[in-house]
Amino acid sequence: MQDPEQIKYLKSLGIQLWVPRDYSGSESLAEVQTSVAVEGESSTGQEEPRPQPIKLSGDIAEMNWDDLQQAVLGCTSCGLHVERTQAVFGTGNRDASLMVIGEAPGADEDIQGEPFVGRAGQLLDQMLQAIDCPRSSVYIANIVKCRPPNNRNPQPEEALQCAPYLHRQIALIQPRVILAAGKVAAQNLLQSDLPVGNMRGSHYRYAALDIPVIVTYHPAYLLRSPKEKAKSWQDLKLVRSYLE
Ligand code: URA
Repeated sequence: MQDPEQIKYLKSLGIQLWVPRDYSGSESLAEVQTSVAVEGESSTGQEEPRPQPIKLSGDIAEMNWDDLQQAVLGCTSCGLHVERTQAVFGTGNRDASLMVIGEAPGADEDIQGEPFVGRAGQLLDQMLQAIDCPRSSVYIANIVKCRPPNNRNPQPEEALQCAPYLHRQIALIQPRVILAAGKVAAQNLLQSDLPVGNMRGSHYRYAALDIPVIVTYHPAYLLRSPKEKAKSWQDLKLVRSYLE
């Protein structure tokens, strides 16, 4: 269970040891469950927004992986295609139990054609390793497939144009849980305008496919605000509880 990456990440959170009984013993499972809100409710008991299923373009909704990838790589549906080096489709295990969804490719991802390969990606790898989910075991994608100029946030229209592609990826994978990394991912997946800080710790669902979603801070934010890593560890434990 404990490898050097995992230990490094836990240490950076101020957590000394991974304790297996957190997830195998009834006592610690209860501990996990008490920190969890009821489905559809926040930990403060407030009603969470219930997003409506999105409508898919007929073609995309039927595509297999190869056709979907070709469609994304050649997509010109929004202005982001103009400045991209390449579209960043997504990567990883297409049978994954855990799917991680970020915001948009940055400069490194635009060049390499793979999501989360820069510094934020390295931290994401450590976070995943800390819950015993190496990068190779999960599927990683973004809300939009092309890099927004100057790394600005994707605009709502851009996210809307890209949504059918991401939706099809989620439908093909059928993960047991989705980790939404950061505001753009959380707000778009859950059709919410709440800040990440308010969404963390709650059990949402990606309504169109009824798949659990856990919200956490974006790794790039954690690089700027390392104090928040302890909270992200709580989020990761919630994710882990879905994978048990
Ligand atoms: N940030 C993201 O949200 N996605 C990436 O692929 C890289 C950085």
